[in-house]
Amino acid sequence: MEEQLCEYGFAGYGDFRQPAFSLRDGKGFPIPGPFTITPELRTEKPPLPGLPSARFAESERAETLLLHMQEAHSGLRITLRYTPLPDYDAVLRSVCFENLGNEPLILYRAMSCSLDLPYDGQQLLYLHGSWARERHLCRSSINPGLFSFGSTRGISSHQFNPFLALLTPHTGEHSGEAWGAALIYSGNFAAEAERNHDDNLRLNLGIHPETFQWTLAPGERFDTPEAVLVYSPEGINGLSDRYHRFIRERILPPRFREAERPVLFNNWEATYFDFREEQLKDLADTAADLGIELFVLDDGWFGERNSDTTSLGDWAVNRRKLPGGLAGLGSHIRNRGMEFGLWVEPEMISRESELFRRRPEWCLHIPGRRPPEGRNQLVLDLTRQEVRKHLIETFTSILEAAPVTYVKWDMNRYLASVASPALPPERQEEVYHRYVLGLYEVMEAITSAHPEVLFEGCSGGGGRLDMGVLYYMPQYWTSDNTDALSRLKIQYGTSILYPPIVMGAHVSAVPNHQVGRSTPLSTRGNAALSGNLGYELDISSLSVEECEEIRRQIDFYKKHRQLLQFGRFLRLLSPFEGVETAWMWVDGEQREALIIWFSAYREANLPRRRLRLAGLDPQRLYTVQDSGRRYRGDRYRGDELMNRGLLLPEVEQDAGSVRLLLQAE
Ligand code: GLA
Repeated sequence: MEEQLCEYGFAGYGDFRQPAFSLRDGKGFPIPGPFTITPELRTEKPPLPGLPSARFAESERAETLLLHMQEAHSGLRITLRYTPLPDYDAVLRSVCFENLGNEPLILYRAMSCSLDLPYDGQQLLYLHGSWARERHLCRSSINPGLFSFGSTRGISSHQFNPFLALLTPHTGEHSGEAWGAALIYSGNFAAEAERNHDDNLRLNLGIHPETFQWTLAPGERFDTPEAVLVYSPEGINGLSDRYHRFIRERILPPRFREAERPVLFNNWEATYFDFREEQLKDLADTAADLGIELFVLDDGWFGERNSDTTSLGDWAVNRRKLPGGLAGLGSHIRNRGMEFGLWVEPEMISRESELFRRRPEWCLHIPGRRPPEGRNQLVLDLTRQEVRKHLIETFTSILEAAPVTYVKWDMNRYLASVASPALPPERQEEVYHRYVLGLYEVMEAITSAHPEVLFEGCSGGGGRLDMGVLYYMPQYWTSDNTDALSRLKIQYGTSILYPPIVMGAHVSAVPNHQVGRSTPLSTRGNAALSGNLGYELDISSLSVEECEEIRRQIDFYKKHRQLLQFGRFLRLLSPFEGVETAWMWVDGEQREALIIWFSAYREANLPRRRLRLAGLDPQRLYTVQDSGRRYRGDRYRGDELMNRGLLLPEVEQDAGSVRLLLQAE
């Protein structure tokens, strides 16, 4: 048994590796099998109740293989589900546990997928980081033993993303094999890689077993989140390309699949909590004049919210700051030809709030103990039906009353004191997962009641950027770190899994508020237009030249928005390997491409560098234009640009950048 490759391994029967699942019966005895396996083929993917999962059109077939594993004594039936998606070289996997017996069963571990394969020198690729440093890249060898990472913070987290990939030692960005596994889930997760004495390798990905237990009463079932496994024979870029298409076409809300995203202004770093209606109107006038399409009012518009110590839960407009209410500000913004967007943080409650005074029991807490605050706030207990109902009613009606077409949905702390007095003792270990199910119910209700509204997820920046949230919210605020150089790493790492169209990216002030660095406006623009372009600085105090430059950036972005938001994205030079970063976009017909090259430092008299491009038509002739007009219509064939490379101009300063546009003849 030990030496075998298993499909969904379990302990207690001679397999000593990290199991994919574990259960006990109502008397506390383990259920070690054996199992009788019956296959079944269906033409559609069975639904995962309450969980986001890959979308299929009603008319579409989604052939799914079910492997039913029936245990003889306990009434336990485990069903492994596999839905292949050849267009993405992907397989969707999930598992259903059913109790068909008469006694309760307790589930302790229920991975969404498990993969056994011989170890052959493969390496791991995964994304790690922290607040303001999300999704940095890590590539490591796999040593004997067990390696695991994940989150027990209640959300998928800034620290790790629910994704890992296996690479052969020679796999690079453009060649070699890569196998990815990613989870459509926003809560605690674990990713495990175990290499045993026989050089067998096991990967597990699923809900974190450390903070999970689930009682299956007779007749009940438990569905794991869906995992998306992707294979690429074309290197890491090939893996990303498949995930990018998958996320755009199968995860994002259908209405936004092909919708161009607006250029936005956000007042957070311009004013923080300290603003008045007149000041916002002035900012709106300038924003409209610069060509911005959406004005977003961030934190501080409700209750007594003049700092982060109060008012979460009291979602009534602060009339001292906004005498005309949201309607007044909204109509001013609309009269300037822009859309109006609003910041909210529905899952939270301030101790200092009317809601807390009325409903102190509505936060996650252990009875009789004071729950710890994070950013001065507590977390609402989304396992409670009345809390979910309250949130759905409150935010649905805000969206009905306020003239908003965009919402930034924030979530600014990790979960602690994770208990719910509303649940019985044997279900306390279910709270983490029930919180996520409650969140999905609330997100589903609010977003489907307002399908026209563009939602952008946020969690202290990119703390919950995962496919679970993207299913409801087609954009995400990638990081609170808005420094252009920091952003290159964050956006590079994020792009391993997520397409640029989901990444909110803003031009902010210098010196930068997070790292104190000053970078040229052109580079701040180039970094931000590599995602969903926005501006988050005091635009009323810009010089005439700065305004002109921003106008040019926005014009450029609008002109090339189709390519930037829907083109194929390719990474060329990694900021994790040197001082340069480069990436590019190619349209579906390979007629147009845009390359952006960044260099953190300027050096004197360096030898000229060539940058090898990718994804072009080798036969076509391309004309090169650049932002500094150094190429005047020079023409090269695609194969030359990809094999020999394009001669790069020198950067003119530290943190310099160059934009190059290729047009096929
Ligand atoms: C979080 C977000 C920021 C901003 C603040 C407001 O930190 O990531 O963008 O919205 O909250 O309090």
